Amino acid sequence: MTWLNRDVTEIGGQRLHPETLMMGYGYFPGLSEGSVKCPIFQTSTFVFRSAAEGKRFFELAYGLSEPAPQESAGLIYSRLNNPNLEILEGRLAIWDGAERALAFSSGMAAISTCLFAVCRPGDVVLHSSPVYGGSDYLLEKVLPQFSIRTVGFQAGDGTPALRAAAGEARTQGRVAAIYVETPANPTNALVDLAECVAIARELESSQGFRPLVIVDNTFLGPVWQRPLEHGCDIVVYSLTKYVGGHSDVVAGACVGSRAALEPVHLMRTILGTMTDPHTAWLLMRSLETLELRFRKSVDNAMRVASFLRDHPKVERVAYLGFLDPDSEEGRLYARQCLAPGGTFSFYVRGGEREAFAVLDALQLIKLAVSLGGTESLASHPAAMTHCDVEPDRRAALDIGDNMIRVSIGIENPDDLIADFRQALEVI
Ligand SMILES: Cc1ncc(COP(=O)(O)O)c(C=O)c1O
Repeated sequence: MTWLNRDVTEIGGQRLHPETLMMGYGYFPGLSEGSVKCPIFQTSTFVFRSAAEGKRFFELAYGLSEPAPQESAGLIYSRLNNPNLEILEGRLAIWDGAERALAFSSGMAAISTCLFAVCRPGDVVLHSSPVYGGSDYLLEKVLPQFSIRTVGFQAGDGTPALRAAAGEARTQGRVAAIYVETPANPTNALVDLAECVAIARELESSQGFRPLVIVDNTFLGPVWQRPLEHGCDIVVYSLTKYVGGHSDVVAGACVGSRAALEPVHLMRTILGTMTDPHTAWLLMRSLETLELRFRKSVDNAMRVASFLRDHPKVERVAYLGFLDPDSEEGRLYARQCLAPGGTFSFYVRGGEREAFAVLDALQLIKLAVSLGGTESLASHPAAMTHCDVEPDRRAALDIGDNMIRVSIGIENPDDLIADFRQALEVI
């Protein structure tokens, strides 16, 4: 009975699966009038039973003292902790098989808080390219203002490019982090996570400090890719995307070991980049259908991507499901990913004019940035999410003017295909 304070995670030797645990893990009805669902704790602050209790809660929250066995941190103030935040974080950690998760007010809040917690002036961040436009701006334009240098390597270029960039990064200072987005937004190019971990270990011997391997797993999510199982240290998410899944919240997360997340947690407390109780509550609702939505969007994406691949007005489709299993990238995909996901890009024959014409002609699929929602969306990375990336770099990264990125939702796939069919007729 989970009335007051016991989570059931195993029954008769059967370990319960994440999708089962999402219905109640970490929530005890006896603490909330028997409500079957966790209420929203819409409060900024919490009452202490005594001044001594308040003192103890602060000691634990600020790491001034270690908790006794069975003792847990008490509730203080919603920038530090809140039941919705804590229950959400417990459930997020389950999907990645992690010790701990931290929820943030956006994906960018998670990424920037994490990098600011890990890097110091004079440090270097080795990173893959392309990455989401906001992350690119943070790496290329913001971190250098704090004397943190960045060295990029192109996702999809394989081990030699990664190793060459690691060598270059080492000459520039202490490499504090290896930041990787795989599959990359918007090209779906892959980075070898095990190789990044191997490089981190080698850097440890040469510089006396092991850089943290931080992976943005927004595209495949914890259902289709588990970077911690490949030895990575911190997984970051824009929960706005597949985890939120309904295009109605903006949120983010960092997931990893307690030790790796401790400085990130401290930085979050000071910057105040945590998520709010209402958003946390909405995300808990989203987690209940996470697996179902992931499966359906992959099935749909495979159908739609196949239609587009065979269409005469489409030059090519960058979908992980179409990688040649005998190619280097195909083998990497097999080692690292569990399914091809629901977001991909395709290149129409022509340029920006043709791509815009197709986007403007769509009737069902909405012309909007973002991805991972129940509804399908289409956008133009070169003119939208990646417009900040210099044109030369964009071209080198294969973010062409004829590229359209689509996020396939959970509609009936025949309807999505009908929409693309009529839209492609206009060019
Ligand atoms: C791969 C990836 N990471 C991070 C972000 C940033 O997330 P947010 O918009 O929640 O700040 C995005 C947003 O599009 C993204 O696509």
